[in-house]
Amino acid sequence: MLTEIARAKLNLALHVRARRPDGYHELETLFAFVEVGDVLRVAPAEAPAFRVTGPFAAALAGEGDNLVTRAAARFAETFGGGAHAIELEKHLPVASGIGGGSADAAATLRALARFHDVALDDPRLFAIADRLGSDVPACLLGKTALGRGRGEQLAPVVGMPGTPVLLINPGVAVSTAEVFRRWDGVDHGPLDADPLAGRNDLEAPAREIAPVIGEVLETLAAQHGVTLARMSGSGATCFALFESVEACADAASRVARPGWWCVETRLAP
Ligand code: C5P
Repeated sequence: MLTEIARAKLNLALHVRARRPDGYHELETLFAFVEVGDVLRVAPAEAPAFRVTGPFAAALAGEGDNLVTRAAARFAETFGGGAHAIELEKHLPVASGIGGGSADAAATLRALARFHDVALDDPRLFAIADRLGSDVPACLLGKTALGRGRGEQLAPVVGMPGTPVLLINPGVAVSTAEVFRRWDGVDHGPLDADPLAGRNDLEAPAREIAPVIGEVLETLAAQHGVTLARMSGSGATCFALFESVEACADAASRVARPGWWCVETRLAP
């Protein structure tokens, strides 16, 4: 059996530059990863099997067409390798801007690649990832990177590993497509090399749909030792970077509310 961690992704900055004729949006984003994630266990089996466990399993119940099973099916079409039993231990909230489903799909591809001696940088794996979703290639790469295009054109950059991070999700799921639809169409300019000087252009439309996001951001920004407070992806999860583990822990103990998912972690490389 093989175990893969599907780390949560953050968009340290996300600039929406243009609406494209294909319905997607041209982005410039800085992807980063944190140390928490879903856990994926994969073993060879006589017939394909899939089950979801863990604290957020219920949110996926009844979803026949999961990104994990789709990733496994695409892998088998391209590389063969027979059937697998896959267990997804779901620790990340669903539809929450931190790439849960995308990270799970990418972890599935990585696990199957390991099993069947496919190189992790095989372009065919990235082609499968690209078709599964805009964030799946970034999650397959799994390291700090600049993303352009839909987010699939990736250039690794040096990250800030070890930086203490607090994640908060206020318990509302927002639709990515709906958030993009509400984008005001104004290009506020390119991504700067420094994420602190950047923005998330999806914050305003996401706050229209779920005003509680504003409350989360204001709560995070008011904490002692915060260097950056921002929403990730299309929300609703927001994050804050801290100058010390103590400041992060202190904030975590103060911001928790019933119904809010609140996790202390660190940036990964
Ligand atoms: O690629 P993915 O299926 O994850 O995207 C979900 C939805 O988010 C798309 O259908 C599209 O409406 C929106 N999207 C977008 N521009 C992007 C990425 C996603 O408009 N760069």
